[in-house]
Amino acid sequence: MGRSSRARRRDPIRHPIPAARTVAATKNSWKPDLTEAGLAGGWPFGDGFLIRPAAVGDLDAIAELVPEAGVKLENEVRTAVEEGTLGAGLRASLRGGKDEFLRHMAETFFAHQGTGRFDQALLHTGLVLVAEHEQHGIVAALIAHPPTHMLSDLAQHAGPQTRSGRDLVLAGAIGMARIRAVVVREQVRRHGVGAAMVRLCRLIYAAAGFFIVYGQMPPRPGLDLFYRSCGLLVQPPGTGLDAWVVTGFNTNIQPGADERIFIWRKP
Ligand SMILES: CC(C)(COP(=O)(O)OP(=O)(O)OC[C@H]1O[C@@H](n2cnc3c(N)ncnc32)[C@H](O)[C@@H]1OP(=O)(O)O)[C@@H](O)C(=O)NCCC(=O)NCCS
Repeated sequence: MGRSSRARRRDPIRHPIPAARTVAATKNSWKPDLTEAGLAGGWPFGDGFLIRPAAVGDLDAIAELVPEAGVKLENEVRTAVEEGTLGAGLRASLRGGKDEFLRHMAETFFAHQGTGRFDQALLHTGLVLVAEHEQHGIVAALIAHPPTHMLSDLAQHAGPQTRSGRDLVLAGAIGMARIRAVVVREQVRRHGVGAAMVRLCRLIYAAAGFFIVYGQMPPRPGLDLFYRSCGLLVQPPGTGLDAWVVTGFNTNIQPGADERIFIWRKP
């Protein structure tokens, strides 16, 4: 008898996937189809992996994985996945291009006007991806969304109910995304899955016209090589990020102690 998908997902991986089976047809040759159909069906990768947006049934597996990247699955992100609002703006972008994306985001912000809950509107450009293996279930997760805390700090400063406060949050929601976590189960590392997820994330945000995709990495061996292999710039320790291109004025985002910022900027 087949097991339930929930049981299958939560099973530990018993057999590491042999390198020879997965290395072909991966990495450089991978060209994900960036359409709404691609988004709905997921993107096959390598031998037996499918990279796709997270569904409600994946949330427990994601919550188990992401602490290895030093973060937890935030309640707001969980709720947005459950309600189907997470990434709704990015889906609009893949469906109808930039115009449909901007229309969706303008309507979303209008609907949240006066509620003070712009964090919910921001998650319309959130992205949670999982990689599922046909035998081993969920083996990797990536979480990205606009930098909610930074944007709400800026909005507080400008006055959250003022036009400039709202404009700032909207500009952030359609212009910059932070990769909060990317984690691949140890048994399937070095098969290109992590880099494929980061690349896909970058392509999805680029398609929506974002200016910046960035994150912060701890001083762990190999992480700088990993992010460089994904086409991101890894900044020297202590170097901040100026998001003026999004906010319209100089904003010095500093990495945490010992951390480094990795970044992709729209060419
Ligand atoms: C970082 C992580 C996501 C990488 O995932 P992955 O699927 O193993 O990475 P990939 O196979 O896509 O690696 C692509 C390239 O990155 C580089 N790379 C990845 N891991 C590396 C390591 N440990 N040491 C050196 N280089 C590494 C290599 O150049 C690799 O290409 P290669 O295998 O052809 O040499 C994974 O190691 C992980 O989950 N680590 C724990 C969580 C974590 O630290 N997340 C990041 C927090 S900011």
